[in-house]
Formats: sequence, C-alpha cells, structure tokens
Amino acid sequence: DWTMAAFKDQAIARIREQVGDGRVICGLSGGVDSSVAAVLIHEAIGDQLTCVFVDHGLLRAGEGDEVVSMFRDAYNIPLIARDASDLFLGELDGVDDPEVKRKTIGRLFIDVFQEEADKIKDARFLAQGTLYPDVIESVSFTGGPSVTIKSHHNVGGLPERMNLQLVEPLRELFKDEVRALGRELGLPERLVGRHPFPGPGLAIRVPGTITREKLDILRKADAIYIDEIRKAGLYDVIWQAFTVLLPVRTVGVKGDARSYEYACALRAVTSTDGMTAEYYPFEHEFLRRVSTRIANEVRGINRVTYDITSKPPGTIEWE
Ligand code: XMP
Repeated sequence: DWTMAAFKDQAIARIREQVGDGRVICGLSGGVDSSVAAVLIHEAIGDQLTCVFVDHGLLRAGEGDEVVSMFRDAYNIPLIARDASDLFLGELDGVDDPEVKRKTIGRLFIDVFQEEADKIKDARFLAQGTLYPDVIESVSFTGGPSVTIKSHHNVGGLPERMNLQLVEPLRELFKDEVRALGRELGLPERLVGRHPFPGPGLAIRVPGTITREKLDILRKADAIYIDEIRKAGLYDVIWQAFTVLLPVRTVGVKGDARSYEYACALRAVTSTDGMTAEYYPFEHEFLRRVSTRIANEVRGINRVTYDITSKPPGTIEWE
C-alpha cells in the first residue's frame, strides 16, 4: 500500500535525523507494536539498535522462545534476553490486588530492563512502540471522567531515570496502521496479525493470587482456545481472545469420579482500538467444542464459562 510505503520512508528518515550515530535500546515484548518499531528502527540505523527482552514469566506458551528466535536468528538484530521469571513470580507471591500486581510488575520491569540496558554502553535513546490510542488512553478515558482505570505499564519512567531520549516512531498510528506498516516491512503475518497482549501478561488473567501451577493451567486452556479460534478461521475477525482462570473451584465429574477444580472464563471481543469493545457472538457449536476440549484436556479445570460483557461497562481484561 503506497501510503504505508511513504510513511515508512518518512519514518526512517525521521529516525535517522533524530538518532544520528547514537545507540538505541528497544524493549521487545513479543507483541506487534514493539516488533514493528524494532524492525523499522533496525531498517533505519542497523546495528546501532540493540533490543532488550525481559521475560517476566507471565507470557503464553512458547512466546519467549519465539521472540528470541525471530529477532536474533531470523532478523539478526542484536538482542539481550533475560529470564526474570523467578524474580517476578517471587515478588508477586500472595499479591491479589490488580493495581498492586500492575505496579509490582511495572517496577520490577523497569529495574530489570535498566540492569540489562546499562550493559549497552553509551546508549542515548530508548525506543518504544507507543501507539496513538496509548497516548490518549493514558490521558483520559472516552465518555468518562478523567480517572485512571488501569495503570498501564510499559516502560514509563525509564527514559528520565536512564537519561535517555525517547524514540517513538508509531506515535501517530492506530493498531490497523501498525499492522499495515509491519506488512510493508515484510514481517510474517502470524506476528503482524497477533492479538494485543497486555504488558502485565497472564498476571491480570489470573484474578486473585498467582502461582506457577495456576499459570500452567491457564497456558494450557488458552492454547486450546486460540487453536480452536484459528481452526474456525476466526482469529483475524476477533480483536482479542483469551482465557481467564477464575479464583473459584467447582465440583464436577470427570470419568466417573468427582472432581473439584478451577472454573475458567473465555473472552473474545471485537474492537477497532481497544477503547470500546463488543463480545464476539460465537456459534454455540464452537463454544461447546472449546468447553469440551478444555475440561477434558486440562487437568485443573472442570468448568468453562463465556464472558458476554461489553466495554463499557466492563473492560477487555478482567483486572
Ligand atoms: P482494558 O482491559 O483496559 O484493555 O479494556 C484495553 C486494551 O489494553 C490492554 N491492556 C494493557 N496493555 N499494559 C498494556 O500494555 C497494561 O497494563 C494493559 N492493561 C490492559 C488490553 O489487553 C486491551 O488490549
């Protein structure tokens, strides 16, 4: 698409102008925004860019490995990957308040990121995949008073602390435009079309306290749900779909024995920017199939529910 081709050339020119021969650090999350930002910046300034990926232990199945193999091996972009899951899960032990979870994760993320970024000597710039809706949602909330609904964590606070200047080449773009830019840059469709995933990761999809066991159960259920959504050809018409592990256990019957296991909720919404959303009207047959597979295949879950709440009054995530 010619508009995106033109945008790309302009963005590359602007990055070169801003950065000169300085070194740039870019935080990678595995999501579309930071990936597109990283590849764009790499195209502009090559090995003046180093990416940093902090694995907080709250990613979905296989995600950490995918990020490393894609950037280090496929794109040859210098990448520092740090597995900090013990630190994060240790600090989150016993924490059940959503805002405390977010703040804990945000604080640790900044600490670990800074430790790794400090290894990149004479870095002067920090790149972020901030989008236009991030810019406005952090200021106000549509149709409501100007209050913080959820304290979004990305790498806010870092630039000042590390004395780095921000590079935000996607600041004027909406999600669909970032995807178009990603395609223009030749990123694989599987990455470009990926659903948004929140910075605090699975921590906010396990209401109540988080344990490794709960995270493992959630990962299995989520993988089945997404697999069925892909098989049904629905992945691309849905804005975001995921499973929430509920902090409640219910009685069921598996085989011919009594079971007492967690309940989970499936969430799927359509949206254009994440600011408002409608639940996705799945066929009953689809829901039955997913429910049967999860309850049969995931040890630890024996009940599946479907969340039919719109945003507002709900939010997309449960926390
Ligand atoms: P909510 O749940 O507020 O989510 O309707 C709107 C969109 O934002 C994502 N989200 C986050 N993204 N850090 C992020 O980077 C966060 O702390 C965070 N919380 C929610 C959510 O997944 C949805 O796409």
